[in-house]
Amino acid sequence: MSFKQVFIAVFLGTALIVAALLVNARRPANERGQPTAELVRATGKCAECHRRETSAVIDEYERSRHAAKGIVCLDCHRPAEGQASLEHRGFTIARSLTAKNCAQCHATEYDQFARSRHAAPSWAAVNGPKDFSDAQKALGERFHKGWVDRPANAIASLEGDPAIASGCNACHAIGKPNADGSFGTCTNCHARHAASVALAREPTTCGQCHMGPDHSQVEIYGESKHGALYQAQRASMNLAADPKHLTTVDMPVPTCATCHLSGLEGLKVTHDPTERLTWFLFAPISTRRPGGEQGQLQMKEVCLKCHARTGVDAFFTNAEAVLAATNEKVAGATAVVKQLRDEGLLTAKPFDEPIEFAEFDLWHYFGRTAKHGAFMGGADFVQWHGNYELLRLRREIDHDAEELRRAGRPAASASASASAAPSASASASAAAGGSGARTP
Ligand code: HEC
Ligand code: HEC
Ligand code: HEC
Ligand code: HEC
Ligand code: HEC
Ligand code: HEC
Ligand code: HEC
Ligand code: HEC
Repeated sequence: MSFKQVFIAVFLGTALIVAALLVNARRPANERGQPTAELVRATGKCAECHRRETSAVIDEYERSRHAAKGIVCLDCHRPAEGQASLEHRGFTIARSLTAKNCAQCHATEYDQFARSRHAAPSWAAVNGPKDFSDAQKALGERFHKGWVDRPANAIASLEGDPAIASGCNACHAIGKPNADGSFGTCTNCHARHAASVALAREPTTCGQCHMGPDHSQVEIYGESKHGALYQAQRASMNLAADPKHLTTVDMPVPTCATCHLSGLEGLKVTHDPTERLTWFLFAPISTRRPGGEQGQLQMKEVCLKCHARTGVDAFFTNAEAVLAATNEKVAGATAVVKQLRDEGLLTAKPFDEPIEFAEFDLWHYFGRTAKHGAFMGGADFVQWHGNYELLRLRREIDHDAEELRRAGRPAASASASASAAPSASASASAAAGGSGARTP
């Protein structure tokens, strides 16, 4: 055969195989080499009907470890204790599912999650304590004293319910107190039917919430050496590795999960990220957490699976220097605004004067960003999205303070502000619910 004939033969052969594969792919998955009888037995009537009604649910479920291990629809969907039920096509199913349905089989993960800041403090940060039962509040307060029984967030109240429902709570509902007594949902990181660890190890999964100017973790990660290597080497990694045996062969580069939750090379998996943290970085003035020394040892243990100690210690020393300098810069700016309030030049009401927005942006966007950048390897966030803005806003605050003093005491609000001043150091930072003063 000539070269041309060989080429045509190979081309036609390949085309036939591809066509056969395409036809095969259009057949339902349970005819496609899946153990049909078993699958039908495992997923039963639900799958049969839902393959027609909501096919993606079945496709996702079929890929999951749950399907492989014979966990069936009703294992999750039957009502757990305390859940409202629904009669559905001859079955009794729960009206809605919560972490409690998963906790029936994953009690260890649930207990760690329930004591983490992803649970009670997260919901209270926006909504205060009103939605918690006494038992839920007590559990949250036991692990995070002062972070559950606190006022609802002032900015949220100013912005109103529609903004809270589709904004704040879309992220903070990870810890919503449920009527069945449990907290939140596990599906923010694992998804409902995929229920996968691979998904939870993807930076973009955490980045659904951990993003934007007030907590730019996913952006910082993206520009770090770790993020760059992850992009380059992702295809050769095994993100689905069993957490009990995760090694650097599976993932030689860390993602968010590796540093904050994973069990790498024999370390313990945790669903409580606080275990590995040292500082309250999100607070206006960062203080050490209770148990912070232990937290730093645990975080460094993760780094030390891949790095030498000298470099890791130096990295933390440098980051802590940024933290100390940022604390000083934030304290300086806050003092200027407090002084104005003490002089009766500002009302006690939060967010009714421009200088209060400048004060808030200073710590909430740029102070946090500088600190987060320093601890996670994002130089641009330490500098241009951090320290440069700290400098610029401090000039703006000083300038506005001079103008306010020149203009004198606002006639209408002077008395109100003077009387309210001592109790309501209702500064922007307290209003945001992250006040350094409230840090336990
Ligand atoms: C004979 C068909 C049929 C069977 C059998 C069936 N379902 Fe459904 N299911 C439906 C239809 C239709 C809907 C509504 C879809 C819609 O709203 O578009 C639905 C909705 C649902 C919903 C969403 C309910 C809501 O209001 O949010 C869940 C959850 C669900 N089914 C789970 C199950 C489970 C679990 C089983 C097996 C125990 C099951 N279904 C059996 C047809 C079926
Ligand atoms: C690992 C637990 C788990 C298993 C197994 C499971 N589901 Fe679900 N399913 C969930 C969760 C969690 C939700 C979200 C429910 C909620 O928010 O109230 C859900 C939601 C649904 C919905 C509503 C989807 C939507 O987007 O509106 C349907 C339909 C459904 N499941 C059907 C099934 C069927 C059919 C099976 C079996 C093939 C199944 N599920 C197996 C956990 C599970
Ligand atoms: C009826 C028991 C049962 C329920 C209910 C259940 N699971 Fe599982 N889950 C299992 C079993 C069994 C495994 C497989 C464990 C293994 O392979 O060692 C598993 C594995 C997992 C894994 C690891 C998957 C992987 O990629 O390796 C995750 C994550 C998970 N479940 C999350 C959930 C979530 C989230 C829910 C609730 C929406 C849930 N499970 C409900 C029994 C359950
Ligand atoms: C659905 C939104 C959401 C997702 C997804 C999410 N988080 Fe969070 N996370 C939050 C919220 C909200 C808080 C703040 C809780 C508080 O302190 O009030 C938080 C706090 C944290 C903290 C600080 C805990 C502490 O003690 O201060 C860490 C670390 C963290 N998350 C890591 C992760 C990682 C890693 C992932 C992905 C595997 C992830 N998060 C996924 C919403 C989310
Ligand atoms: C895009 C998701 C997202 C949205 C929207 C969001 N947050 Fe957060 N919030 C987070 C994450 C993630 C953290 C954790 C930051 C950290 O630890 O560095 C957080 C932290 C906080 C904290 C500090 C932690 C604490 O427990 O005090 C407060 C207060 C807060 N958010 C309030 C709000 C309010 C109020 C809104 C709406 C006006 C809102 N958040 C909107 C994701 C979000
Ligand atoms: C190389 C390890 C590493 C990676 C990767 C990493 N972090 Fe961090 N993270 C840290 C360290 C170290 C700190 C600071 C710990 C301390 O001293 O309290 C931190 C702090 C945080 C905090 C701050 C909590 C607070 O007090 O405000 C959050 C939230 C967080 N990381 C989320 C993430 C998310 C989301 C990702 C992925 C997009 C990520 N991290 C990637 C190591 C890492
Ligand atoms: C903040 C994100 C996040 C949330 C929320 C979350 N998980 Fe996970 N989960 C992870 C990560 C990341 C891993 C993989 C850890 C690793 O890499 O070693 C994991 C692993 C698991 C595993 C496998 C553990 C093992 O040792 O094999 C189970 C089971 C599981 N999660 C269940 C749950 C349940 C149940 C909930 C709700 C109570 C939940 N998860 C909530 C991130 C999350
Ligand atoms: C799973 C392995 C792994 C873990 C865990 C890990 N790193 Fe890395 N890190 C790497 C790899 C790989 C590189 C790229 C090294 C190279 O250039 O060859 C890197 C690079 C770095 C760099 C940039 C070095 C340079 O000069 O460019 C710093 C800084 C760093 N890591 C700090 C940390 C800190 C701090 C921790 C813990 C909080 C940590 N890493 C955790 C694998 C890891």
